[in-house]
Amino acid sequence: MLRHLLGILVGIYLILAVSCQSRSFFDMNCPQNISVNLRKCEVFVESRLYFSDFRHWTSELESVVKVSLDVTCSSKGVFILPWPMKARGLIKLNVKGCVLAEYFSESLTPTNLKDELLELSLENCVIASNVKHSIDAFNKPVSQEIGCGQQTLQRSVWRNISYTNTNDMADITIDDFLKFFSSLDQFLNRIIQIRYRCKYSYLEYIDESIGSIRSKHSILIMTAYSDFPKLHTFLWTYNGYSSVPKELTDWRKYFPQLELLDLSYNNITKFNFLGAPFTNTVSKPEPLVIDLTYNSVTEIPVDMPDYLTGSVAIIVDLTGNPLMCDCNFLRYKNYVMHALKIFQKYKNLSRITCHSVIMHRKIQLVNYSNNNC
Ligand SMILES: *[C@@H]1O[C@H](CO)[C@@H](O)[C@H](O)[C@H]1NC(C)=O
Ligand SMILES: *[C@@H]1O[C@H](CO)[C@@H](O)[C@H](O)[C@H]1NC(C)=O
Ligand SMILES: *[C@@H]1O[C@H](CO)[C@@H](O)[C@H](O)[C@H]1NC(C)=O
Ligand SMILES: *[C@@H]1O[C@H](CO)[C@@H](O)[C@H](O)[C@H]1NC(C)=O
Ligand SMILES: *[C@@H]1O[C@H](CO)[C@@H](O)[C@H](O)[C@H]1NC(C)=O
Repeated sequence: MLRHLLGILVGIYLILAVSCQSRSFFDMNCPQNISVNLRKCEVFVESRLYFSDFRHWTSELESVVKVSLDVTCSSKGVFILPWPMKARGLIKLNVKGCVLAEYFSESLTPTNLKDELLELSLENCVIASNVKHSIDAFNKPVSQEIGCGQQTLQRSVWRNISYTNTNDMADITIDDFLKFFSSLDQFLNRIIQIRYRCKYSYLEYIDESIGSIRSKHSILIMTAYSDFPKLHTFLWTYNGYSSVPKELTDWRKYFPQLELLDLSYNNITKFNFLGAPFTNTVSKPEPLVIDLTYNSVTEIPVDMPDYLTGSVAIIVDLTGNPLMCDCNFLRYKNYVMHALKIFQKYKNLSRITCHSVIMHRKIQLVNYSNNNC
């Protein structure tokens, strides 16, 4: 949760001004599939939808019934969805194109609901929080339940999420306000002092792509008090990063089971993925694939050959980078040719090109040679 508080801290860029659904509304929109005891809700929101109404509806269902909720909003649709989004039996929550209002409104209130959510997907949404709730969440210690959210998750998607504050300034002193919006150091300091750890023992897939205002501290906060022992896919594209965060350099420590790290469409100029060594040295037959396509990479690390010799081999895809035909590129070519001997299925890497200043054209990796290196 705290990462989203950080989003509010660094990310305000628009201000917006911000009825009750009955039981029969959900009965109608959530047909039951008797054979699997699942109620599949599909809701289109024209004006607003309250998660609390949905939560109330689920509390009256039979205890064996599980629920999935798909919400799509119109351009004016608002979904009042307070973190940590718990409802009895809710195992899948999918939200598209909504303003998510009152986001921190329950962040100081313990629920007595257990974690059940397996899949959370939020896409093209704006998280809106009232300034007072953000300041309260900032000033008081949050419990493990709120800090971690639901640790049962297997799949977590936060794609194209932005942040805003509502303009309700009642009950806030200017001092509080200034303190909140000028205290990034204090915020990071607080993260380090968190005493609990969030264990995402089932989480295999994270997509946090497309964040125009993504903080450079995002992955630091993500890993500071959380463990991701099973994560195999991590998508982090279109986030405007110009360097690889330390926690991704040290992926063996923070994401030991990683198989795909997608950093495509950032602005990364150089890389290092040989950071922290493995604590357990079990070797794996499949490589870690690091997708660095369409970045700004110009430098190849001198230890490139080592990317294939560790207990997990690393395939680095540099398609679409501004590589010049020089000794750097020759080093990358040698690495690719070696990699293709072990893993034939990445043969596309041999089509990567460099730009030759002398010949004024692109040269394919397989055809590049250089006797001056
Ligand atoms: C109910 O679930 C089963 C198994 O997932 C599926 O095959 C069937 O099509 C579903 N029925 C309805 C009406 O959705
Ligand atoms: C991101 O979401 C906003 C709505 O919050 C939408 O207007 C925009 O088109 C989305 N951008 C992309 C690249 O999907
Ligand atoms: C990428 O980085 C370069 C140089 O650091 C900068 O000039 C450019 O604006 C950046 N592009 C994006 C899309 O952030
Ligand atoms: C290889 O490249 C071709 C053509 O560019 C593309 O269609 C295919 O999906 C690529 N395969 C892989 C495994 O990336
Ligand atoms: C590059 O190498 C391939 C395979 O070795 C060859 O078929 C192709 O003609 C070469 N292209 C150029 C421009 O030399």
